[in-house]
Amino acid sequence: MFQDALGQAQDAIASFLTQELARYGDDRLAEGMRYATEGGKRLRGFLVLETAGLFDVPQAQALHAAAAVECVHAYSLVHDDLPCMDDDDLRRGRPTVHRKWDEATAVLVGDALQTFAFELLTDPAAGDAEQRIALVSGLARASGAEGMVLGQAQDIAAETAGRQLDLDEITVLQRNKTGRLIEWPAEAGAILGRADPGPLGTYARAIGLAFQIADDILDVTGDSEKAGKALRKDAEAGKATFVSLLGLDGARDREKALVEEACEALAPYGDRSQTLQALARYIIAREM
Ligand code: IPE
Ligand code: IPE
Ligand code: MG
Ligand code: MG
Ligand code: MG
Repeated sequence: MFQDALGQAQDAIASFLTQELARYGDDRLAEGMRYATEGGKRLRGFLVLETAGLFDVPQAQALHAAAAVECVHAYSLVHDDLPCMDDDDLRRGRPTVHRKWDEATAVLVGDALQTFAFELLTDPAAGDAEQRIALVSGLARASGAEGMVLGQAQDIAAETAGRQLDLDEITVLQRNKTGRLIEWPAEAGAILGRADPGPLGTYARAIGLAFQIADDILDVTGDSEKAGKALRKDAEAGKATFVSLLGLDGARDREKALVEEACEALAPYGDRSQTLQALARYIIAREM
């Protein structure tokens, strides 16, 4: 059931991106944009579709916001993998963009995917004028200097500071770095459904943190073949993570508690939220 719903969303997002990216022809930049948006679990886009679906928003409309967040996420990964950042060769089981082409291409592909995301949100089919402004403004804030980019900056500052962060500091850093781009899809679903963002916000904050704890656990216990990226990088870099601070069992207890908290927040939606509850459980059970 859950796997079918996720698979259907992955296919719908992939087709929508193929159709929208077709406007860019076949130069290296366009090819790189397509390459960087292929693969991946599409969890952020799926969250948009599922939260919007609670309010019967047509999928054809919600796909704009779903594709937009996947483009921002893909851009963040292309830049995150650059030699000046994490210096990774493998992403989603394939060479990273700067390894397949070169660093300049990777920088530009990331730049172009970021602006493309906002272009998708301004399409009249994405919502009425007020909804589109709310989507653009929310995604800008979640991605930029008070969101994902801030988290990346805090991550790099922590690495160069030579001092281990404590649990509160790591929680703030991770909420910015990873959490905000997982929280925005739920905000988008509420905007599109003209609904109270409260319960979905609580749900998304909990799964955002659980997602990063799972990423930290996978970095220690995972199989890099399955994950499609290099692992054991956090310990190698001497980074404080949820695992280094809580221990493996402590981190597992914490992510389970967060999943319960997330599912409880969905109570107002009753049975309609079953897929979102399954998504919360999947986030900590995944191997990739
Ligand atoms: C990986 O995100 C990067 C982090 C924020 C930890 P995902 O695990 O969602 O990556 P894809 O999109 O499925 O490749
Ligand atoms: C990257 O975090 C998160 C963003 C790109 C914002 P990580 O550096 O931990 O992600 P992975 O492990 O490379 O996927
Ligand atoms: Mg990184
Ligand atoms: Mg990285
Ligand atoms: Mg990681």
